[in-house]
Amino acid sequence: MALGDNPRISEVHAHPVGRDAIDKVLLQMGRSRHWVTNPLVSSLRLRTVARLAEPLVGPRFADALLELLADHPSVVTTGSSRTQGRSEDPWWRTAVFYQVYPRSFADSDGDGIGDLRGIIDHLDHLRDLGVDCLWLSPIFDSPNEDAGYDVRDYRAVMSEMGTLDDLDALIAGCHERGMRIILDLVVNHTSHEHAWFQAAIADPDGPYGGYYHLRPGRPGEDGTGPPPNNWTSFFGGSAWRWIPRARRWALHLFAEGQMDLNWENPAVRAEVADIVRWWRSRGIDGFRLDVINYISKRPGLPDGDEAIGALIGFPGIEHYFFGPRLHEYLHELRGAGFTRDDSDPPPTSTVRGRHDDRAVGEPQPPDRVGVMVGETPGVGIEMGRLLSGASREELDLVFNFDVLDGPGRIRWDDYRYDLAYLKDFLIEQQSRIGADDRVALFLDNHDNPRMLSKVLGPRDRDPVARSAVAKLLATIQLTLPGTPFLYQGQEIGAVDQRFDSIDQLRDVESLNRHRELLADGVDAVGALAGVVPGARDHARVPMRWQPGPGHGFTTGVAWQPSAEGSSGFTVEEQQDDPDSVLSFHRDLIRLRRQHTTLADGAVRFPDRRSRRWFGWVLADRDGRDEWLVELNLTDRRIRRPRHFVGRTEVELASLAGPGFHRPGVTRRGPWMGPYETVIARITH
Ligand code: NOJ
Ligand code: MG
Repeated sequence: MALGDNPRISEVHAHPVGRDAIDKVLLQMGRSRHWVTNPLVSSLRLRTVARLAEPLVGPRFADALLELLADHPSVVTTGSSRTQGRSEDPWWRTAVFYQVYPRSFADSDGDGIGDLRGIIDHLDHLRDLGVDCLWLSPIFDSPNEDAGYDVRDYRAVMSEMGTLDDLDALIAGCHERGMRIILDLVVNHTSHEHAWFQAAIADPDGPYGGYYHLRPGRPGEDGTGPPPNNWTSFFGGSAWRWIPRARRWALHLFAEGQMDLNWENPAVRAEVADIVRWWRSRGIDGFRLDVINYISKRPGLPDGDEAIGALIGFPGIEHYFFGPRLHEYLHELRGAGFTRDDSDPPPTSTVRGRHDDRAVGEPQPPDRVGVMVGETPGVGIEMGRLLSGASREELDLVFNFDVLDGPGRIRWDDYRYDLAYLKDFLIEQQSRIGADDRVALFLDNHDNPRMLSKVLGPRDRDPVARSAVAKLLATIQLTLPGTPFLYQGQEIGAVDQRFDSIDQLRDVESLNRHRELLADGVDAVGALAGVVPGARDHARVPMRWQPGPGHGFTTGVAWQPSAEGSSGFTVEEQQDDPDSVLSFHRDLIRLRRQHTTLADGAVRFPDRRSRRWFGWVLADRDGRDEWLVELNLTDRRIRRPRHFVGRTEVELASLAGPGFHRPGVTRRGPWMGPYETVIARITH
């Protein structure tokens, strides 16, 4: 259905991209998304509303929005016939993923940098936790301007992390234990040290010139004039860098050494598909695809709308965050890179079946399609469905980053995250997805401060609150319908660091931002305060395996110091404590494996409005197996609603000590303790 030049708000809202765009603007403004479904508002014309909102959204908002909508399907069609547990259900539907940040996981050789052998040494920890698939942040050869997200050679391992042989051993070690392993495909850009870029700037008119976005300066200008457009880099300044040798501008949406590839060029797309096939034959089970929604840029790379740029924070973003050929490129890559032909040689190894917690079975036949997990910043719920609905054959799973910050907030803000917002977001997300859709459930990763610390603020050092909230967050990730992605350290309740000096930070984004704040005249204290709350460094410090110096991460000096001195929150201390955060994760994953309803049941939410209590009922297809999950979202005792459910038997609960629920309790009392989590079977 064509929308015409001035649709009603209701028509814009009915379009998946329009709906997400409106939700995004409202979230950014700190307004409820329900504002727009009000009949008065929804019958207004887009241009009328845009005019009223002009001070905020600028004069070209309606045009920019309509241009974006025209590039994408106007309906999300996902099937509704999925039957539970059918045999062709892909393995990743019910899997538990675990993200390893290799630089900080475990250092086997004492150089202070985590490495592949270090990961191999800890595979039993992951198997015992119940992990089904590891995702490794980049381990490819790289000058490390952005911690490996600037790849110099896609077929080599960075020297400080080991060798290809080590990686082969890691792949085999995972498969032997019944776990899969995926890598990070960073192909929106390459490092400027990549051979393609070097060839491109040596001869910009030759075959590699077309691999990147290279633009000449104005005649006689030599890079002194304005760059080709007003797009800015996510890591500060213009998105263009003048390359004197080539006498061209080169586009980089991220750091200066991360050069954007030109996906319009079929040769680039063929190279990427080749890389994927190469790794698949080595036994890699799929990829997480870095900022994959940015690969298609609007032809001509027009200037971004200034007002939209100011609103979202990044001028130009409307021309590439959901570009015109995105669907086509992903579909093509799925076929050409991720899908096996029968004639392909078998991979070096494949995952063994896993019978129960420990026993492994025979190696499985190779997966026909490697899993495609999209990192998709800025993509809303409906766009996510367009990218990951099974029938669309693009991605399998996408990350929706709206979960990470509350209304009107951005990552750099120093604020307490409201769990009631999390509830609201998750219910909305769950209610909007179709039977074919699967969401990725994540709360932490290497690009964000720890959710636990955002919720608790300075109280994150209180061991009781820290454990309770860690278990509550685990329960959300591990029992809501979706595929959980745990990030290293979550299983032991890792929290943010107390960075008190810029020397403790390592990340290019933090350091650039700090430099810019100082350049803007902010004093040293203010500049540090402007960086620390959102710094990606919080989640990148070494994993805490044991108490004591080096935390069992290294025998040398860690590449990034950990600035957190609490006790009780290491793997060793929690390993044998039945009430620890680690044991809770292990128990919950085991429970999920034993009762498929917990991993893949249908969900309903009994009390959507309470800001203090969050609960859901999970049921299998015949409604015979039913579970109740309930959380106290507050740091006080609350009265639990009980009318909607019959008799229950508690299987797992978060709070230890007298007065709290323990497994086996058949009557849930009237009260829930602070941040208490209860997982119970409904016995009717
Ligand atoms: C997303 C990655 O997660 C982040 O760490 C990186 O800086 C950017 N993409 C650029 O590759
Ligand atoms: Mg090392």
